[in-house]
This record gives sequence, C-alpha cells and structure tokens, in this order.
Amino acid sequence: MSGEGIGFGKAILFNEHFVVYGIPAIVSAIAKYTRAKVEPKEKAGWTIVDNRKATPRYKEDKIDQQKDSINRMVKKMGLDLSKNGVEITLEGNLYVASGIGASAASCVAITRALSKHFQLDYSNDEINEIAYEGEKGYHGTPSGIDNTASTFGGLIWFEKGEENIMDKINLQNPVEIVIGNTGKVANTTAAVAGVKERREKYPQKYAEIFDRAENIAYLARDALQDEDYKELGKLMNENHKLLQQIEVSSRELDFLVKLARDQGAYGAKLTGGGLGGNMIALTPNKDIQERVANAFEKEGFQSLRTSIGVTRGSE
Ligand code: MEV
Repeated sequence: MSGEGIGFGKAILFNEHFVVYGIPAIVSAIAKYTRAKVEPKEKAGWTIVDNRKATPRYKEDKIDQQKDSINRMVKKMGLDLSKNGVEITLEGNLYVASGIGASAASCVAITRALSKHFQLDYSNDEINEIAYEGEKGYHGTPSGIDNTASTFGGLIWFEKGEENIMDKINLQNPVEIVIGNTGKVANTTAAVAGVKERREKYPQKYAEIFDRAENIAYLARDALQDEDYKELGKLMNENHKLLQQIEVSSRELDFLVKLARDQGAYGAKLTGGGLGGNMIALTPNKDIQERVANAFEKEGFQSLRTSIGVTRGSE
C-alpha cells in the first residue's frame, strides 16, 4: 500500500494567543495545502523527504520539532515500524512559513497519508486528534485551532475547553485577503511562553486586554455574518493593537500592517504566533487585493493573494 493526504494552511482572523486561554477565536483555512505521500520501506522506522517550498531557514530551524512531532503521531496511532518502515514525502502548494499553519498542515497531511497506507480509515475527528498530538512537537501547548482549520477547512469559530467548541461560519461569498510574509522564521513556543510570563507579571493589565479580545470575537462573528467588511476590518485593526500590547508583534509586521492599511485594506493584523511570520490584510475586492499585494512585493516582501471562506473540508 501507499497513501496520500492533504492538510490546509490557515490564517487566524481573530485572537491568536488569546485562544490558548479559552478566549474564542476565528480562523479560516486557505486554499493552499501540504500533501504527504507515504511509501513502504524495508528499513525499520520512518524517514522524511521534505520537498515543500519554504521561507529560508524554516525547515532547518524546525527539524528537531518535526522529528518530535512525527514520533508523537506514530506513537498515538500505535504504528509498529520496527520491521517495515515508511518514507514520508512532503510537497504541495502551501509556501511554508511561520503563522500560516504550516506545521498543522503537515501533521494533518501525514496523518491522512498514514491512515490510508495502513488502512486505518480514520474519521476527520480522529485525524484532527492525532494531528493535535503532532502539533505538540512544534509548540508545546497548542490550543488546537490550527489543526482544526487544517483538517476541516472553511471558516471556523473556535473555543478551547474541556471539549473544544468548533462552529462553522458560512459566508455567502468568499472574501479576498492578502497574506504578507515578513520572511522571518518565528518560534511559536517562545511567543506563547512570553505571553504567559507577562500575563502572570501584569495580571490586571492582561485581564483588561483579554476581556476586550473576547468582545471583539463576538463582534467579529456578527460582522462576518452580516458581511459588514468595513466593521470587520476595524475589528482586525483593534485586534492587532491588542496583540501589540501583549508584545507579539514585530517591526516588520507593523510595517506591513500599516502599508496594507495605507493601500486601502479594510483592516490588517498579524496572524499566527507573531514575532515575525505572517500578517493578514482584509481586501474585499480584486483591485484592493492587487494594490496591497503589489505594494508588499515592491518593498521586497512575499505576498499571497487568497480568500477566506472557500475550502469546505478535505480528504
Ligand atoms: C499559532 O498559530 C496560534 C497561537 O495562538 C498558538 C495556539 O493557538 O496554539 C499563537
């Protein structure tokens, strides 16, 4: 047998970091994916061939985390690779960078491919659970938002809890966005740990910021349901301010956020773990999308023109 599977990339529209503490967040899968292929090998254990296109240094920096992640998933799946092993090949059209769900996309893709190869017939819920275990290899205490978006696709309201809450948000029409890449590889574990430390040090200040983040999530869900993109953009701008206050933005992120707004984006914010990685701009028509993406490229940054609310689930 051999097996194949994909996992979507994602962009968090609201409340990365806050989501780790149970504050609701909104995430969208994007129509870019990582594909994993699994081939049988006579040699025991697993090997990986990583053909994904990536931000320079990303793959090198994350190699130990990738190893830990795959070992965790193999263990969780209860696979016995002691006699015959597998070779896992990663590829696909998701350009690998920080903040875009690259680790989750690879975990989901690998789980799907292994499930096919070993004829395990996992459901999406099981795929999601195993990919979550894999995510722990990359960032210690993940909220589970990335693997959920990567597994199920679409636009999702997500709350971490005893039982995670996951509600689909249905958009009438997909909406254009631009994702801007600072080109800096970021360490999500360090970003999450930094927030934890400062939250313990400044409880009052952080409680106020977290309260506002929670309000924003509800207002943003209403704005999405009403297709009120002016309001949604304002809320994204405010969310970015909160992320600056908890110190997870960076000079490059702030630069791209400002540039996007100056070029007509309805709103812009960092997306994902921050401290580098990617930002997202809401550009609800092709002209604005083109203007913002071109401005990023003119400044030497990579941009991805894509949409939210398009992917509907995957196999
Ligand atoms: C990373 O994409 C999002 C964070 O909120 C971490 C997590 O939710 O696990 C920073």
